[in-house]
Amino acid sequence: MDSELHQTAKALVAPGKGILAADESDGTIKKRFDQIDVESTEENRRAYRELLFTTEGTEDYISGVILFDETIRQSASDGTPFPKLLDSKGIIPGIKVDKGAKPLALAPGETVTEGLDGLRGRLEEYRGLGARFAKWRATYSITDELPSDYCIWCNAHALGRYAALCQEVGLVPIVEPEVLQDGTHTIERSHHVTSRVLDAVFTELFDQRVDVFGALLKPNMVLSGYDAPEHANPEEVADWTLKCLYKHVPAAAPGIVFLSGGQSDEDATAHLNAMNRRGPHPWELSFSYGRALQAPALKAWRGRHENVEAAQRAYYHRAKMNSAARTGAYAPELEREAVAV
Ligand code: 13P
Repeated sequence: MDSELHQTAKALVAPGKGILAADESDGTIKKRFDQIDVESTEENRRAYRELLFTTEGTEDYISGVILFDETIRQSASDGTPFPKLLDSKGIIPGIKVDKGAKPLALAPGETVTEGLDGLRGRLEEYRGLGARFAKWRATYSITDELPSDYCIWCNAHALGRYAALCQEVGLVPIVEPEVLQDGTHTIERSHHVTSRVLDAVFTELFDQRVDVFGALLKPNMVLSGYDAPEHANPEEVADWTLKCLYKHVPAAAPGIVFLSGGQSDEDATAHLNAMNRRGPHPWELSFSYGRALQAPALKAWRGRHENVEAAQRAYYHRAKMNSAARTGAYAPELEREAVAV
């Protein structure tokens, strides 16, 4: 298999570095902007992404950025296209290519991710626009009965088809099966469901000839439900998540880049740190966070030009904290630096 794929996959999980997910769809970025009373216009979305991508020094902690279709075609104020701007800082541009989770037929409460039709052509176009990796997200809800095997296997099959198409055009596929952690489930139940999901995903990747050395897994951490009466602490999260990954992720995978889901930014950092403190592991354990890297920056920005620097400081700080968590060197006391930077 193309060694460029292997090199890109490895570069995305280089020591001390992780990925910024800035690929919110129109609907999702509107939700984020609503929370800070900013109108979701094309120019506001562009200005916000420019703020993130031009934050000085983040290239020490950020290996790649996942863009949305609109964003990969946009430019910084000086006219430099975003993919070129990122490239010039040594940050690898990536692209979200799925078309979202849609209701799965005859399966109330479950979804299947769409976007396979015409995907080969879209991937070629994105590669031409500068993307070197891609992302596809499937989602699964936990209840006493769900997810069904039907939902697990439909999504695994689609992830396999997407990943094979990516590798064919030289893009590293980030394979993202997200078991949503909303609800009241126990951490044991999350472990059981996440295990079943990962098992199906790797079966499909293998059957569809995907080269696991040239792909990255983006899973949820194994958590107790956000509304559960009791919450697992970071050591328990590390225990259950690592147990699941050791059983279901081949050592050939160069890296596992967690999503943050609905965790607070500091929890997402503390959990990653707890896992890396127990390393070395067969794969790099890194991050591909959206909310957990951006939440404080969005809050600081509020759509105002005069707040750009404060927002950049907030983003820089989270990137640095998560970089520390890559080696288990994070400690909550380091959070105080945020004010000092
Ligand atoms: P969160 O870290 O906010 O979950 O976003 C990651 C992502 O890319 C979801 O697809």
